[in-house]
Formats: sequence, structure tokens, C-alpha cells
Amino acid sequence: MGQGTPGGLNRQGLPGDRKGDGSNKKDKKFEPAAPPARVGRKQRKQKGSEAAARLPTVTPLSKCKLRLLKLERIKDYLLMEEEFVANQERLKPQEEKAEEDRSKVDDLRGSPMSVGNLEELIDENHAIVSSSVGPEYYVGILSFVDKDQLEPGCAILMHNKVLSVVGLLQDDVDPMVSVMKVEKAPLESYADIGGLDAQIQEIKEAVELPLTHPELYEDIGIKPPKGVILYGEPGTGKTLLAKAVANSTSATFLRVVGSELIQKYLGDGPKLVRELFRVADDLSPSIVFIDEIDAVGTKRYDAHSGGEREIQRTMLELLNQLDGFDSRGDVKVILATNRIESLDPALLRPGRIDRKIEFPLPDIKTRRRIFQIHTSRMTLADDVNLEEFVMTKDEFSGADIKAICTEAGLLALRERRMKVTHADFKKAKEKVMFKKKEGVPEGLYM
Ligand SMILES: Nc1ncnc2c1ncn2[C@@H]1O[C@H](COP(=O)(O)OP(=O)(O)O)[C@@H](O)[C@H]1O
Ligand SMILES: [Mg+2]
Repeated sequence: MGQGTPGGLNRQGLPGDRKGDGSNKKDKKFEPAAPPARVGRKQRKQKGSEAAARLPTVTPLSKCKLRLLKLERIKDYLLMEEEFVANQERLKPQEEKAEEDRSKVDDLRGSPMSVGNLEELIDENHAIVSSSVGPEYYVGILSFVDKDQLEPGCAILMHNKVLSVVGLLQDDVDPMVSVMKVEKAPLESYADIGGLDAQIQEIKEAVELPLTHPELYEDIGIKPPKGVILYGEPGTGKTLLAKAVANSTSATFLRVVGSELIQKYLGDGPKLVRELFRVADDLSPSIVFIDEIDAVGTKRYDAHSGGEREIQRTMLELLNQLDGFDSRGDVKVILATNRIESLDPALLRPGRIDRKIEFPLPDIKTRRRIFQIHTSRMTLADDVNLEEFVMTKDEFSGADIKAICTEAGLLALRERRMKVTHADFKKAKEKVMFKKKEGVPEGLYM
């Protein structure tokens, strides 16, 4: 060991020397007298004492300042981290407790929760509720329900077994109804309708004018009609005209299809009708458009099944709503159907929807116009003679004409032609007429 130590020292000293020379060459400048043949330990001692005595002048000052800054940043960061960890430790028990509370509340609420209606508030903690299925119940209100927001008629969540009020449904407008509102005006405008001038005039007078200029009707001393019913063969432009009204009017436009009003659950259909007209009233002036009204408006008959009775109740509610309008003149109704003869006469009696607008199959002039409208954006070859189709004896509806134009375009596309030829139109017409006849029962041809 005794021999080993000096050797070890020497060996340690030499690299130390070299290190000093290599990394801090500038040290040499102010320490030129350092004897090179010294033992490592001694040198180190010297250096140590010197460094303790005064700070070495560091030449790349800005670099060191940057490093200092960086270290300070790190220190700040570490301090922040420390604080965060401390906070975390302090807050964690609270969070756990909140979590526990939440799960406890969830347990109390049960799952699934049934949706019901609040009929009456009895006192602070009790209420009478009903659900769409059955009787009304006297139940408790759990303490965590916000009682300020509870009011008779609002939708609530109930526990599935004990039926106590466990929550409140915020949105009181039925989501079905908000879907019905037409936010974006449809693209079809009056200019896209061929013919039907009398019908357009009539719908404007009956629906739009009373909303925009009610004083005209007051001057003459008549009550404007409550609404109109559009009827006629399928494909004659009833829905199209309603879309054009929605496009041009500044009133709120609500749109429903009759089949949507028939609900699976008892009592929901009439409720939806009520809701629909309530929203229409809220957003008035407004236009309610019910397409395919025959789904609900059929003649009354001896209803046996629950479903039939439900349809009947929905219709009666509709009649009721139409009668209820008198006070609020700024809701107009447009109905549309293909089968007016099957509708309940009560719906169409004077004072309700008594303005009937018929949509006939297009005559020759109108056909020409509809062909023009639907071919206006197509690239036609020179040989196309639309007159041939305009003058034909076959019965066309507007929808058939549109189908012929589309079909002809597709035929041209199939052969990668840029122009639609007369032959395309001929083929398309045959195809459309064939498809139309397919739908007719064979008995007619016997
Ligand atoms: N008079 C018309 N002018 C232009 N296009 C029409 C006309 N009638 C029907 N059409 C075309 O037929 C399509 C179907 O018409 P639609 O109004 O939905 O028929 P329905 O009367 O059965 O509601 C429309 O989208 C439209 O392109
Ligand atoms: Mg339609």
C-alpha cells in the first residue's frame, strides 16, 4: 500500500494537471508562474486556496449570465412543482370526498331514470308527478334537486322504483320540435316552379300576405284564412311550392311530416302537436307546414286498437289547435296531401283549413316550362327536340319530367358523352313511363 499511494497520487495528479491545462487555457494567462514540475496534490491546494480568496474572472460573461438565468428558471420551476405537489396532497382528500359524494348521488338517483312531468308542487319536499304511461303520484323531492328551477309542467327525472324527483331536464322545448324548425332556407325558389301561377298567387295571399300585411285584411274587415291545404297527384309540386314559400318568407318556417306526428307511445302524438303549435306561437310570425297529412287526418272510424286511437287523438288535437288560433293570427298552416278525399271533413270545414288549392297535372304550356327549368343546366346536343315530349299524349307529372331529364343525363354520362342527345331523352322517357306503369295494378289493362 505504501508503495502504491505515491504512484496513485502521481497518476491522479498528472491528469489533474492536464485537465487544468486543457479546459481552462485562459487560467494560464494570469498564472504564468505556475511551476510545471509540481506534484498534483500541492498544485491542487494552491488552486483551492486561490479560488477561495477571489472569484476568477470569467471572460465569456454573457454566456455565464445566460446559464445563471437558466438555472434560476429551473429553480422557479422546481419551486412551482414543489408547491403543486404540496397542494395536491392537501386537496386530494377533498377531491376523493367529492367523488364519493357524486357516486352516492348517482346511487340515489338509480339507473335508468324515468322521465316524467311535474304536475304540482305541494311543499318544499313533495310534489305530484305523472309519467306518460299512467297515474299521478305523490312523491318526495330529493334535497340535491334545485328547487328554484322546478315549476309545474316542466320535465323531470324520476327514480325508477320510488319515483321521487331526482333531477330536472333543462330544455323545455321538445327536441323533436326544434328539429322541425327550418334554419337554412331551401334552395328552391318560386323561379324553379313551372306554371302553377294561380297556386302561387293563392298561397301568397292566404299565407304570406296576412303575416306581412295584416292591416290589409283589417281594412276590408275579414279574417285572413288560417291556412291552406295543397292537394293533387303525387309529383305535381306541392312540396316544392312549400319549399319555395320557406325560401322566400321571412317568417319562421316549421316543417313536419304527418307520419312523424304518430308516436309509438300513447299520448306523445297529441303532446307533440301541442308543442309544435306552442313553439310556432313563441317564434311567430311563423308558418307550419305539415306534409302528407293523410297519415293523421284520415276519416274518423271505429278505432279498436290503441294505435288507431292514438292517431285519432293526434288529429283531434290538431283540430283543437287550429281552433285555438283565433287569438293569435300570426301562425299559418300549410297542409299537403295526395289523397284529399280520405281526409276527415272536420279538418276542412269552413273556419279551419278551408282554402283548398288543387295541383293539377301540368298542361302543355306548363310542361314546356318545366322541361326548360330542368334542362337549363344541362348541355344539350343540337338535335334535341323537347317539343316532341311536350306535345305527347302521355300523362306526365312534374316529377316525371324531372326524372326524364335526370335519366337522360345519366345515359349520356354512362357513355362518357359531354352532350345529351335526343335519343337519350327518348330512352329515358320510355324507361320512366315503364316504371310508372309498373306501379299500376294489372287489372286495369284487362
Ligand atoms: N311545376 C313544377 N315545376 C318544376 N318542377 C316540378 C314541378 N312539379 C314537380 N316538379 C319536380 O318534381 C319534384 C317532386 O315534386 P314534389 O313537390 O315533391 O311532389 P309532391 O306534389 O308529391 O309533393 C320536385 O322536386 C320538382 O323537381
Ligand atoms: Mg310531397
